Amino acid sequence: MEMNIALLRGDGIGPEIVDSAVEVLKKIGEKYNHTFNFTPYLIGGSAIDACGEPLPKETVDGCLASDSVLLGAVGGPKWDNLPGDKRPEKALLGIRAAMELYTNLRPARLYPALAEDCPLRPDIAANGFDLLIVRELTGGIYFGDRGYRQGKYGEEAYDTECYSRVEIERIARAAFEAAMKRNKNVISIDKANVLETSRLWRKTVHEIAEEYPEVKCTDMLVDNAAMQLVKNPSQFDVVVTSNMFGDILSDEASQITGSIGMLASASLGNTTRGLYEPIHGSAPDIAGQNKANPIATILSAAMMLRYAFSLEEEALCIEKAVDKVLEDGIRTPDIAHGEGAVGTKEMTAEILKRI
Ligand code: IPM
Ligand code: MG
Repeated sequence: MEMNIALLRGDGIGPEIVDSAVEVLKKIGEKYNHTFNFTPYLIGGSAIDACGEPLPKETVDGCLASDSVLLGAVGGPKWDNLPGDKRPEKALLGIRAAMELYTNLRPARLYPALAEDCPLRPDIAANGFDLLIVRELTGGIYFGDRGYRQGKYGEEAYDTECYSRVEIERIARAAFEAAMKRNKNVISIDKANVLETSRLWRKTVHEIAEEYPEVKCTDMLVDNAAMQLVKNPSQFDVVVTSNMFGDILSDEASQITGSIGMLASASLGNTTRGLYEPIHGSAPDIAGQNKANPIATILSAAMMLRYAFSLEEEALCIEKAVDKVLEDGIRTPDIAHGEGAVGTKEMTAEILKRI
């Protein structure tokens, strides 16, 4: 199989971790006889520096012409004072919208080898957890009407949350489809005791649930969900939620796995192409120091093989290599205790050895 992959390295640790994932993909290509061609495009702060805008048209066109897209991370203090629509983060929202990637899959599981890093009480961690957050990615408050105006107390700013029935239906279907391949349990998270959008969300999710009689579907309020994630994470299988709630809860879910450096994601639309990226940010404080954990990006590459190219065996091969490296006690600083942590390059080399 020959595939063209667009690389959006981005800012901060982005280039380092994407390069690690590329090495892993190349090794998979050698082992299983596939050719992966990589074409880099600018995004985020590095694109602002090079051409004055965070998401150049060439980048969007290049992604749309590719078979799949691998992204590192964007943003950094250098660009923090730019106006909202000129910031690096805008490029992330822009590319998701341009590629119509409305489904964001963020799996989080507790690796037995990392149980010690789990900040939860040992009796809770002992139950383990393996959940999948299905986050709506192109709607809601991150994309709603916004601005500044004069209000009752003078200057005010506003953002708005809006969800159409169609947007909720398609993300709900994505969640139920995912649940059919897992433990057939969907928990839909909203704030229906306050928000009108959540009431439409809840009603629509239940309508779609009728198409999947084998799947158990329950609702949970987002404040309670934040609490349940640390109290009893093993109760979750598939979680479906809005853009903002999914953003927040996925960071929480990543932290209970031991490190945000472990969580991969797949952003999918109606085509197989998709965009694959770690859920963490650009970590400017450790950029360029060979300290970043490349695992989230490497696992994102595995998700690409699975979802974009239907290469399940190859995806599993990467996931097993990561399991093995952790079982063998190899740790980047974010998951190490005290001495003996390895760098990004060394971690990548150890994973390559196990492929
Ligand atoms: C994420 C990030 C982004 C998001 C930001 C950087 C725009 O936090 O991918 O979770 O909110 O989606
Ligand atoms: Mg986030």
